[in-house]
Amino acid sequence: MRSLTQASLKPVWVPPSRAVPSLAEDVLAGLFEPPRRLPPKYFYDAHGSLLFDRICRTTEYYPTRTELGLLQRHAADIVELTRPATLVEFGSGSYAKARLLVGACATRQLRPLYAPFDVCADVLTDSGLALRREFPWLAVEPLVGDFTAGLDHVPLRPGRRLLMFLGGTIGNFDAGEAEAFLTEVCGLLQEDDYLLLGADRVKSPAVLHAAYNDRSGITARFNLNVLSVLNTALGADFDLSHFAHRAHYDVQAERIEMYLDSLVDQRVGFRRLGRTLELQAGESILTEISRKFTTASLTAMLRTAGLRIVRHFESEGPLFSLVLAARGDV
Ligand code: SAH
Ligand code: TRP
Repeated sequence: MRSLTQASLKPVWVPPSRAVPSLAEDVLAGLFEPPRRLPPKYFYDAHGSLLFDRICRTTEYYPTRTELGLLQRHAADIVELTRPATLVEFGSGSYAKARLLVGACATRQLRPLYAPFDVCADVLTDSGLALRREFPWLAVEPLVGDFTAGLDHVPLRPGRRLLMFLGGTIGNFDAGEAEAFLTEVCGLLQEDDYLLLGADRVKSPAVLHAAYNDRSGITARFNLNVLSVLNTALGADFDLSHFAHRAHYDVQAERIEMYLDSLVDQRVGFRRLGRTLELQAGESILTEISRKFTTASLTAMLRTAGLRIVRHFESEGPLFSLVLAARGDV
């Protein structure tokens, strides 16, 4: 019985609908010339996903508990409005948020299918199991792959759909990437389908700074973990103690920028690439941006992608926004 349940939770690989650079290609294109950068999806190996979960539980990282609070308050309204037969969640991570929506569906005798879509297969399996324990009736269809590489292969059943993109992950895309992704998501929507989007808000730089520089240093470990991912996957020999985590809020650009700073002059070998990376003390690698929104910038971003806001739930502050959006033309 147990093995049957586990077998059905095996993530289904979603093939990209356009060429996606491999890790090696991303590293060759991003790391060897300044401005040096790495795509954020490589943070999330099994260890990175665990560390991210711990970031979410730090006192300083307010977005998770704020968004959970919004969902607790409004899941019933959201389900009442959307009455989904399918829940699709991009970048699902842990099941903490989905369970509130699934619970609100159950209360209304709705039995949706849940399709979490994430790049990290381990986290998909673990969250699927946890959700099944709580909702034994729930059909879970985990999808593994890169959701930015085209959504054409997302299996969508007939019936109303609620697509979810939570955690402020939209802010990890630059304006062009966010527009491209949301436009594609809009293309998946039919009349009566909805997108539930979580977005972090512009606020006091001190609060933002603290959220990405927690005192126990978990964010620093999470940031540095991307170098371990490169060590394992590309036979690189990064010494993590030769780098420091740095995150700062750019008030003008309304975004957190997160870097790994080289603390010494160093050479890093990449056995599998046959290349050596030279870094000077003080040089940095951009590992992540996290954009923060105002009501105006959020509305404009959605409108550019062809979406309109149906409901906007804000937490006090406002610290965080949950937006229910639908196709703009229906
Ligand atoms: N939604 C959760 C997790 C947010 S962290 C929350 O709100 O807490 C971002 C999640 O998106 C991680 O689980 C990561 O593995 C996933 N992710 C990031 N980039 C991705 C990509 N390009 N394709 C698929 N999943 C991605
Ligand atoms: N989507 C999250 C955010 O931008 C991701 C995140 C939080 C993150 N803390 C981080 C990513 C630290 C890298 C490092 O808030």
